[in-house]
Amino acid sequence: MKSTALLQLWGATAALALQNAQVPLQDSNAASAPGSAAPSTGYTADLVALHKSLVEIPSITGAEGHATAFLRSYLQGRGFTVETQPVAPGRDNLLAYYGASRQTRVLVTSHIDTVPPFWPYERRSLSSDGSDGSDELWGRGTVDAKGSVASLVMAVEQLHLAGSVREAGDVALLVDVGEERGGDGIRAANDLGLAWEAVIFGEPTRNQLARGHKGGLAFNLTAHGVAGHSSYPELGANAIDRLVRGLGALARVPLPWSNAFGNTTLNVGLIHGGVAINVIPELAVASVHVRVAASTPEAIQALIEEAVLAAEPTLRLDFSFGIGPVSTDYDVDGFETIVLNYGTDIPGLAGSHKRYLYGPGDYLVTHSDHEHLSVSDLEQAVEGYKVLITEVLKR
Ligand SMILES: *[C@@H]1O[C@H](CO)[C@@H](O)[C@H](O)[C@H]1NC(C)=O
Ligand SMILES: *[C@@H]1O[C@H](CO)[C@@H](O)[C@H](O)[C@H]1NC(C)=O
Repeated sequence: MKSTALLQLWGATAALALQNAQVPLQDSNAASAPGSAAPSTGYTADLVALHKSLVEIPSITGAEGHATAFLRSYLQGRGFTVETQPVAPGRDNLLAYYGASRQTRVLVTSHIDTVPPFWPYERRSLSSDGSDGSDELWGRGTVDAKGSVASLVMAVEQLHLAGSVREAGDVALLVDVGEERGGDGIRAANDLGLAWEAVIFGEPTRNQLARGHKGGLAFNLTAHGVAGHSSYPELGANAIDRLVRGLGALARVPLPWSNAFGNTTLNVGLIHGGVAINVIPELAVASVHVRVAASTPEAIQALIEEAVLAAEPTLRLDFSFGIGPVSTDYDVDGFETIVLNYGTDIPGLAGSHKRYLYGPGDYLVTHSDHEHLSVSDLEQAVEGYKVLITEVLKR
């Protein structure tokens, strides 16, 4: 899941969260999720081994090559036909399916790239065999989204072994690059020349079926000033003062909310300005990411521009992508459902397919230094994916 589309190019960074993290909107009336009782599986060792291999190979966005090469030969060894789709030099999407039919009714997909920094894999069990449910898998990507990748691969394999999907034409797997930084991988997938009835996106949802997720809007706030000796402030114009006035106004903008998606929130994630303590700063910039829960990105942009420029007319605002709230399908029985705050590949994949979002692990630990999930989360996700795929194929 993406944190931001902005590249972190500046040396001096500071995070300033203007609003508190939200309580996720949860639907507690639903029946218990498929596989929520510890499933007895014959595939657990294979699943944990695949997940381990994926996590052990660093694949920070831009450097996914080794992980993709590993997964490609793994899938070929398991009888899949594997196509590689170049996205950029050394960076490929993988499309895997059984037999010769690349066009399938259902696509399952997740991403191989992770955010930095790399954290090594570690298995932590309190009991010697993990039988008390404490069997945890730690490291970068364990949750976002290599847990989903491993569970999706295992689910497709298990359905194939059981004869629950046809030899060809039912389900394909797309593992893409670049999800964490702008989504170049999923946009490239629009050139595969394929269309599906349903696409199942693997991202951490605590094995709940998503009803949707927030959209996003990013912008830079740039303040220009006039440099000079700090002991004669009247001779210059302080860019940092200007930026701070703009940020103050930004924090007071009433952002729209909806019952379905919650509050629109924003994060000032990068801030940079000035050259020395005794120099009037000539330049100051802040990068901001808005999580859109209501209205449209265009309307929110207008609100922000008006408020910020009223407070400090010399500022410049440069907006990049804007995506409204994304609704997903949840018409499969037996799952708890949830609305998520983060962004995904979903809006990047064109087509009129149904869109499902589901996967193992807690989204609250992703992108952190304590990213981890449990073996039973992975097992439950395999069972959940099997249900989703077979239910969609029944229609
Ligand atoms: C939205 O913001 C309001 C006001 O800050 C807060 O009381 C409420 O709990 C928030 N809603 C969610 C779903 O987080
Ligand atoms: C904001 O600034 C960063 C760093 O210069 C840049 O990478 C990004 O593209 C900018 N975003 C917009 C919306 O201008």
